[in-house]
Order: sequence, then structure tokens, then C-alpha cells
Amino acid sequence: MTFATRFSAFRILQFFLRWCGRGLVALAWCSAASANAAHEGAAIAAAHPLAVAAGYRVLDQGGNAFDAAVAVAATLAVVEPYSSGLGGGGFFLLHRATDGRDVMVDGREVAPSGVTREIYFDGDGKPIRGASTHGGRAAAIPGVPAALAHIAERYGKLPLGRSLAPAVRHAREGFELDPRFARIAKIREEALRGGANTAETYLDHGRAPQPGFLLRQPELAATLELIAREGAKGFYTGRVARALVDSVNAAGGLWRAADLEHYRVVEREPVKFTYRGASITAAALPSAGGVALAQSLGMLEQFDLSDVEDPETAHLVIEVLRRAFRDRALYLGDSDFVRVPVARLISRDYLKRGAVTIDAAAASKSDDFDGEYPVGTESGNTTHFSIVDAEGNRVAATLSVNWLFGAGIVAAGTGVLINNEMDDFTLRSDVPNSYRLRGGIANAIAPGKRPLSSMTPAFVEDAKGVLIVGTPGGSRIISQVLLAILEYLREPHVDLQRLVAIPRYHHQYRPDRVEIEPGSFTREWRATLAAKGHSIEVVKRKWGNMQVVFKSKRTGVTQAASDPRGSDVGWY
Ligand code: DON
Repeated sequence: MTFATRFSAFRILQFFLRWCGRGLVALAWCSAASANAAHEGAAIAAAHPLAVAAGYRVLDQGGNAFDAAVAVAATLAVVEPYSSGLGGGGFFLLHRATDGRDVMVDGREVAPSGVTREIYFDGDGKPIRGASTHGGRAAAIPGVPAALAHIAERYGKLPLGRSLAPAVRHAREGFELDPRFARIAKIREEALRGGANTAETYLDHGRAPQPGFLLRQPELAATLELIAREGAKGFYTGRVARALVDSVNAAGGLWRAADLEHYRVVEREPVKFTYRGASITAAALPSAGGVALAQSLGMLEQFDLSDVEDPETAHLVIEVLRRAFRDRALYLGDSDFVRVPVARLISRDYLKRGAVTIDAAAASKSDDFDGEYPVGTESGNTTHFSIVDAEGNRVAATLSVNWLFGAGIVAAGTGVLINNEMDDFTLRSDVPNSYRLRGGIANAIAPGKRPLSSMTPAFVEDAKGVLIVGTPGGSRIISQVLLAILEYLREPHVDLQRLVAIPRYHHQYRPDRVEIEPGSFTREWRATLAAKGHSIEVVKRKWGNMQVVFKSKRTGVTQAASDPRGSDVGWY
């Protein structure tokens, strides 16, 4: 392809994406259609059209899926700063086509060296309201900049600066806010008004900006350029690092320069298992996602299933989730700090024994599982994108700053929004976190430790092809990915739009109830589950923003799809 045709293909794509940006359903169709038009065999699904365009641009310049992942992640940091960014963390699941290597680049945040569990409690032993979610104490040391530099250097074909260029441009020149950004800024208006440097960065004269507002982030552009020139050092040492420490500590944090200097990404073996002949590769600890998927599917393999919306099948899915989340609470944490018996937890024998305890006619009680295992007494928001390139390299990446706009701190002079990921640790076994998750000693706070996550980027390979999947949604990430995988494997043909649109239900052991999306399940459906003994809570809003890509083994054709809920995001 000549430069001119490549250039015009990109302009056409840009036009398409601008047009498509009006709705994420359209985006999914457009990104798939444009991918096939501009890049045979490649596809990208992400939560924002500018991020998809940045990924294609980098592929156009000779980059591979890993360079595209750097471009997409960096652009999301600019255009979706409430979801992910340089001040956050995440997991990048990679598949390299040349040697078939699967690896998880763990760019999860780590606890700063100065924190202890006690700083989150008052003198009477009561949790201090908001301590793990607002301000400096909520902030963990970010991992995304190190992960981007690592991926570009180890797996990419282009220099880091080339892949960061679209993000730099959008930060410096600005971009028009879509209705989603405006809505999220409105939800968090008060926090942004009261946060550190957040009003100046994201508000329009102290108020949530309207759709169409041109948001410029020149300081973030300069930080990205520094990373482009110096690699991870540009973020973890020098001017930016000093500003991060000063701003977080001025907001009550306990960061030290050394915490940033010592931050390292870790390459981890993903969790791999088979389910009814399909091979599944998913996030390893400190994400609970891979273990929970392996457990859930391993138990479900013992049953005949119908489609995931059928209430009899839903009952079984709910029961396996109850058991997987019980083990999450009891055993899972950062395996660099605690011994987690992963092999046993995902062994066929253990899962068969778990399946035997499921009664097809009646709900179990979460209370009945307490004490069966040794319990340690003490011890959005987010984004996902999926990429496949023409060579077959794949990326599934889920990235987060935890809550929408994280801890509500922008480090002065850097444009970097800081996460509130400390809330993903278990403060104490009787204190649920903001996703109502409980845990024990395995997920207790310790300096340098990574908080347990639910983010579940995954690959599913079967005779049809390869599915690349993931989503935001806190603890509900795991059930969303599980439902999508079950549905993908059930159907002989692939309907990506259905995968991202399936009505969602969720169970997480505690609280002992089934959460369902509003308006999605009939009265009869609910009555069937209630008759089995489930207590059902219809939550206020739908959840998730799933991004999937599929590459057919038979034809090599790629498709992409985005969750229709993306445009109607709620507070977790
Ligand atoms: O790592 C985790 O599990 C959470 N910090 C993810 C947060 C999230 O997905 C929020 N999105 N709605």
C-alpha cells in the first residue's frame, strides 16, 4: 500500500469513527468494518472512537498489535481519564503469533511503603469514611506508564514516541467531549470541584462541561512527551515523580520518591485451562479473574447447560459464582506476598467436588460455606480494549483508576489523575470494600503489595476462532466475562453483538443475593429463581462496557463489537 492510499484510508477511517462516535453500537460496527477495509485481518474494539483510530494509525505505520495497544491505552488516558490513565494500573494479556507465547504484563498499582492498615481506621477501630477511596491515602503507586514502556520495548516494532503521538496530539490540541464524558463529569461534579487540581483540569468554570466542550490537557501532553523521550524514567523519576509525590501527600498521602523509583511491571504466566474442548487464557493473580473463570467453568462442565438467560442455567451459573467468590475472599491475593494454592483451586478434582455441592433445585446459602476453610481473620472506573493484528498477535487489556476519576487528585503540573486502587485491598475481614467484596489475610495491605483485582482480560480459542474479551464493572467483571464465554462457546455461529448485549446477572458470595440488570429479566424468570431460594436485587443501572474482537480460523475475517451500555454508563 502506498503512503497516499494508507493516508486516505486513515482519513476515511477518521471520518467513519467521528460519525460512529455518536453511539457505541455503531462504533462496534464501524470499527469492525473499517478494520477490514483498512487492515485485512486486524480489528480493534475500545471504549472511545479516538482510541480505536489511534490504534489503527499505529498499525498503518507498520506497528503490530502491541504498538497499537500502547497507542490505544495512552489515548484512553487522554479521552477517558475517568476510566484509566497514567496514574492508574491494569493488566495486558498478550499473545505473540511468532512463537505462540502468552504472557500477562502486570501493570497493577502497588501499595506505597508508608501505608499500614491502621491509617484507614479511627481510634475506636471504625473504618474512616472515604479514607481508602478519596484523597492521598486512597492512591496506590501507578503502573500504566511502566507497562506501556515495557510493552513497546519488549514486544512492539515502533519507538514508544510513535505510539504515544496520537495521545499527545489529543491532549495538546484538545478533543470534543462526548455525552458520556459530560454525564460522568456531572455524576462526579462535586468530587471534581473539591479535588486537588481536578476542577482546573476537567471542569468548565467550576461546572461539569457540556458535550462538545473542547478539553485541552497541555500538561498531560508534556508528561506523555517526557515518557516518549525518556521511557518509564520520565514518569517515575525527576520532575513528574516529584510532582506526583507532592500532590498525593498534600492530599493526605504517604508516598515516597523511592516508591515510584522502585515500581516494576511483572511478566506473569496467565491462567490457562480448557472447557469443553476450548482453550482459555486469562488474567493471573493479582487478578482474581483467571482463577474465578477456571473455577466457574470447571464446575459448570459437570452440568448440561442451556443458554445463559435460561433460568435453570442461570441458577447453576449463580451457584458456581457463589463458590468462586467464596474462594476469592478466602484465598486470593498478590501471590508475590502470600501463598495461594492456585493449582489446587483450579484442579478438576477440587472443582468436581465443588459441583457436587450444587443442588439444581435449590439455592445454597453463602453462610453454609463459612468455616469450611481456614478464614484469615485479619490479615469507574475502568476500561477494556481488545486487539488482533494481521499476523495474529493479540492484546486484551483492562485498565483502571478504580472509581470514576480515581482519588480525585491530579498531580500539579502533570495532568496525571491518580487512582484510588487502595480500596481494592481488604481493610479487615468484616469491612467490605466499595464493590461490597470481602476478603481476608491474603488481600491485606502490605507495602509494595498489589491489591486483588477482578479485571479479567481473556482469550478464548476453539474450532471457530479466537475471541478476545474483557470489560469494566468492578466485581461484576468476572460474571460478565463468564456469561460472554458461555454464550460464545454455545453457539456454532458467532454473534458478537449478542455477546456484548446479553442481559447480566451476578453473584459474589457476599452479600448473598443475585444482582440483576434493570428491565432485563421477566417476572417469570425472577419467580423461578426466587422459588429455588435466591434473593434477587434489581440494581439501579445496567453495568459494564464490554469490548470484544473475534478472528475466524476458517476465513481469517475479523469482527469487533462494543457494549451498547457504553453510552449509558452508571456509577458502579
Ligand atoms: O481492579 C478491580 O477489580 C477494580 N479496581 C476495577 C474497577 C472497575 O472495574 C470499575 N468499573 N466500573
